[in-house]
Amino acid sequence: MKILLISSSARGHSIADALARSPQNPDIISICPSVNPGIKKLSIEQHVMSIMDFEGILKIASDTKPDFAIIGPEDPIGGGLADELEKIGIRSVAPKKSLARIEASKGFARNLFEKYSIDASPKFKVFGSTDDSSLSTFIEQDLDGNFVVKYDALKGGKGVKVSGEHLNSVDEGIAYAKECIEECGSVVVEDKLVGPEFSLMSFTSGLQVIDTPAVQDHKRAYEGDTGPNTGGMGTYSDADHSLPFLEASDIARASEINKLTAKALMDECPEHAEGYIGFLYGGFIVTKDGVKVIEYNCRLGDPEALNIMPLLESDFVAICLSMLDGNLSEDMVKCAKKATVCKYITPESYPVSKDQKGELVTFPKIPDEAALYFGDISEAENGSLHLGGSRTAGIVGLGSTLEEAEQTAQSFCEQVTGPIRFRSDIGSDALIQQRVLQAKSIRSDNQHNTATVT
Ligand code: GLY
Repeated sequence: MKILLISSSARGHSIADALARSPQNPDIISICPSVNPGIKKLSIEQHVMSIMDFEGILKIASDTKPDFAIIGPEDPIGGGLADELEKIGIRSVAPKKSLARIEASKGFARNLFEKYSIDASPKFKVFGSTDDSSLSTFIEQDLDGNFVVKYDALKGGKGVKVSGEHLNSVDEGIAYAKECIEECGSVVVEDKLVGPEFSLMSFTSGLQVIDTPAVQDHKRAYEGDTGPNTGGMGTYSDADHSLPFLEASDIARASEINKLTAKALMDECPEHAEGYIGFLYGGFIVTKDGVKVIEYNCRLGDPEALNIMPLLESDFVAICLSMLDGNLSEDMVKCAKKATVCKYITPESYPVSKDQKGELVTFPKIPDEAALYFGDISEAENGSLHLGGSRTAGIVGLGSTLEEAEQTAQSFCEQVTGPIRFRSDIGSDALIQQRVLQAKSIRSDNQHNTATVT
């Protein structure tokens, strides 16, 4: 069994690790934009090249003839790499370009929910002209100045700007919306939702949609959810596969929305009769009006994959083959009933500067009940490890409770040496209780409003 893995980062390392644990003992051929020492160790060959160099990737695929490919990040998926690989007879665990619009076009996603009556969006409008005078009316009057402006194409996670965070006035919002229209042709403007967020990722094959445990991410750089946004500083998941601030009905609704979305995608893209193949990642929020969609991604989350992959007890290669063959079922996806806490180690100055790039970093021996996934890190010839400019490595603690998992991750992080930092508060009881209180207060708002209305 030969698998072509097009992925970088700690997410790619966690995918490679899950493949390598398979009893089918696959040969992994990896393609990464820079050497990833973790993925390299698990691969029979690692090719370093741009993951947007489709011609180069197709050449490697034709030469190596893998049984299938897995594509990790959204850029090659959104650019149609799965379509190109299929043309040379290689199936991919990743959706085709038109289905990947669920992430690559925020306007496509919102319009899809509306067309298929999936009640999961805030008030929104898609604008395609800078001359549209209703843009300012919509932001000022319909949204009352609380708004989100979304670039309507992939922009490396930097396309979404929120009022009160990145946009300090209605005028700034209008200017950014116009900039988006000029750059990519359209923009989505929507109501700013407030509440605790969570991710629910599902292994998907057409109408077969099998959920993995819910995860909560922490985007802000510093303790207490302060500082600039990052790619994600860490995540946690609980042993019951839910999260402490969620009710069973929230998870059930998110799961239902993932299924409805997979069905809507199938109906919307009849040219791909097999439907959406790959990882369908719903980003949800608990609001006073119930669970809503913040956005969808066409891939595994980073860091979310780092929580899920070590929990996977089933053969990941068999799961991938079932996604490709359209015979995926619930009993094929078993995740351990354990809590996980992931904390990213980053250079001290991340994300503000890359001042520590090249500096030495050392890791202790990986303890039992923990995992270490390499991100932006390089390995010298003598085996020493050196910081890149971005997130260095994800450290995951597992345990029968969140407290146990957090302690394992925290103590592992404390033993890493070098000019690095990490967020001690991720997975801590204090931070989790804040989310519980936030969700409680939002739900009581809802009860209050309902009581007022009736
Ligand atoms: N955790 C956020 C993302 O993967 O986009």
